[in-house]
Amino acid sequence: MRLVRPSIEWKNEHEDYLKEWDEPRMTPSSFNLAGYENYEVYLDALEIRESGYGKWVPSTNYFLVDDTDRVLAMVDIRHSLTDYLHNVGGHIGYGVRPTERRKGYATLILAEALKKCDELEIDRVLVTCNDDNIGSAKTIVKNGGIEDKSFIEEDGMVVRRFWIER
Ligand SMILES: CC(C)(COP(=O)(O)OP(=O)(O)OC[C@H]1O[C@@H](n2cnc3c(N)ncnc32)[C@H](O)[C@@H]1OP(=O)(O)O)[C@@H](O)C(=O)NCCC(=O)NCCS
Repeated sequence: MRLVRPSIEWKNEHEDYLKEWDEPRMTPSSFNLAGYENYEVYLDALEIRESGYGKWVPSTNYFLVDDTDRVLAMVDIRHSLTDYLHNVGGHIGYGVRPTERRKGYATLILAEALKKCDELEIDRVLVTCNDDNIGSAKTIVKNGGIEDKSFIEEDGMVVRRFWIER
């Protein structure tokens, strides 16, 4: 099991994962391939996004892959917080392949992402989830998350916010 960065060799695995994705929104959104002419164009756009261009803060994205090179989960690590990230998005966003859920992979990819945060010297890591996302809340608490005040979005969605001290 290891973290790898998106690159052309992961094109087929990435596309397969998205075929399986079962929710209206891709999480993390940085792995959404919709609207890109081809994978190379997506990779170029991701590189620009990761550099902290425009509305984006610098970020790093990883796939969690197993020993057979199957992508099990994806994570986006934002290196700093904007107002939006402070209230809603947090430092780390992750998602797990639908057929691989309930096997501990969210817990694992968050733990691995926290090690990357250590390298980035982020000593208080904010991780959030929607109020109805019990699996994600458990994942955060299992990784040491201490709950702060929730944020209520304009549409009434309650976002739970947790800090993980490193
Ligand atoms: C939420 C999500 C990341 C959980 O991934 P996962 O790999 O299934 O999580 P884990 O196996 O590490 O489980 C962590 C804990 O949550 C529990 N859990 C996971 N999914 C659950 C669910 N749907 N309902 C209740 N508990 C759940 C697990 O049982 C485990 O708790 P336990 O150790 O006490 O048994 C996954 O369902 C997903 O990708 N959802 C869509 C994207 C998303 O919501 N991302 C998070 C954005 S904040």
